[in-house]
Amino acid sequence: MKNLIKRMEIFAEKYYHKNAEDPFVWRNHIQLVRKYAKFLAKIENADEEVVEIAAILHDIGKYKGRKDHNIRSHTLSKKFLQDSKLSIKKQNLILKCILKHSTKESSKANEIEVKVIQCADVLGTLFDNRWQAFSRKNLTKKELFKLYNKSLKKINLNSAMKIARPQIKKLKLKLK
Ligand SMILES: [Fe+2]
Repeated sequence: MKNLIKRMEIFAEKYYHKNAEDPFVWRNHIQLVRKYAKFLAKIENADEEVVEIAAILHDIGKYKGRKDHNIRSHTLSKKFLQDSKLSIKKQNLILKCILKHSTKESSKANEIEVKVIQCADVLGTLFDNRWQAFSRKNLTKKELFKLYNKSLKKINLNSAMKIARPQIKKLKLKLK
């Protein structure tokens, strides 16, 4: 398992370093998503290994832009996972987490692991201080409020909501 994670980190890092939109995505966003995914998995009784792997891989497709990045991440990850020793069941669940990590999927019924990734993705953005500071510099107050509200809409687990709400309150206070 440790070996697989190490190989996966090397594989994923290459794509994240090609991400022009956020050159710190690997160091900040992905590590935060990973941290919150593992934390939420414990509370929600989700498969920790599945969510950690999905967290590492979920945004690799962003190196070609935001649009359809979940599909690109899914395709690239599928090839990588086929060479791993993970069971087909686990591979498929990881791939589902990656494919369905976007906001529009969060209101649908999905496995707990998918929900954990959807929520951890939001938390990984809300707690990314560098990214938040960058957004405050480049977006209007109205756009930021819209983003914060969109974040809350994506969260579909109470455990994650408890973490997100105070952080959004803090971020909103910074705008005044
Ligand atoms: Fe993400």
